[in-house]
Amino acid sequence: MLFPAYRPRRLRSSENIREIVQETRLSISDFVYPMFVVPGTKVMEAINSMPGIFRQSIDNAINEIKEINGLGIRAVLLFGIPESKDEFGSKGYDENGIIQRAIRKIKEEVTEVLLITDVCMCEYSSHGHCGIIRNGRVHNDETLQYLARIALSHAKAGADIVAPSDMMDGRVGVIREALDENGFDNVGIMSYSAKYASAFYGPFRDAAQSTPQFGDRRGYQMDPSNVREALREISLDIQEGADIVMIKPALSYLDVIKAAREEFDYPIAAYSVSGEYSMVKAAGGFGWIDETKVMMEILTAIKRAGADILITYFAKDAAMVLNTSKR
Ligand code: PBG
Repeated sequence: MLFPAYRPRRLRSSENIREIVQETRLSISDFVYPMFVVPGTKVMEAINSMPGIFRQSIDNAINEIKEINGLGIRAVLLFGIPESKDEFGSKGYDENGIIQRAIRKIKEEVTEVLLITDVCMCEYSSHGHCGIIRNGRVHNDETLQYLARIALSHAKAGADIVAPSDMMDGRVGVIREALDENGFDNVGIMSYSAKYASAFYGPFRDAAQSTPQFGDRRGYQMDPSNVREALREISLDIQEGADIVMIKPALSYLDVIKAAREEFDYPIAAYSVSGEYSMVKAAGGFGWIDETKVMMEILTAIKRAGADILITYFAKDAAMVLNTSKR
């Protein structure tokens, strides 16, 4: 049927019609809220490049988790920033490390939380790389046992899902095996499967103090030019035992999300990273864009592309919008 018999505008003519034909709906249960925990008590340090996001001690983090629970958000992605760093990132698998203490305490005090933990070495290593350095390079196979140890220490502390973000080859398999051998077959793996070497991580590296001290991450993170390679990475992670696969960043990689959605029937997470958040906050702060509307539009786009799970620093703000809109 063609114009004038068919008129697409008919379905846009009122709020009620628009709502009933809406194809993509954001839901608070899609969101995962990333948080940064630091040692100490009553610590609440603003991260300059990420307005509204803080480095917090465990006590304050627990308060915020209770607050987001009140908004309906259940899932949190936890990053730890240790008291000290060394070449082997040994605080990353210390059973009394910041993240392990945080996991135990959060699980003690909040029942309604799905705790996902970042498994990587860059926040814990003095050189800021995501693995063990040999001859000036990140050594893949030597790094694997460390990642398995980190993941296992999180599981022992009570993590529900571990999320390896290092991009070493073979790590999902090694982590799955370590978890299973130790009786943690119920702990899931959300793998950063297609993680690109992206300049959008800039503000995060300030937040986590994890900027590499030499070189960059292009030797292990993916080239932004590639999409077929992302599908190979995802396929390997699924074969190795990933339960959820992730694409990161989100906004500049919607085509990757879409391609993955078409190819795989596993849950897909998309991480809308620090730089995506900071850009919107900055432009919003200047009054150049309507921050709230742009935020909702971006999150909707990521979901429309095919993501099931949205990891976003906007989780709280977006939940408030969803809670107050009539939907
Ligand atoms: C650590 C890690 C990074 C992010 C999540 N986990 C940074 C990096 O790889 O440099 C980035 C998150 C963000 O920018 O919000 N491996």
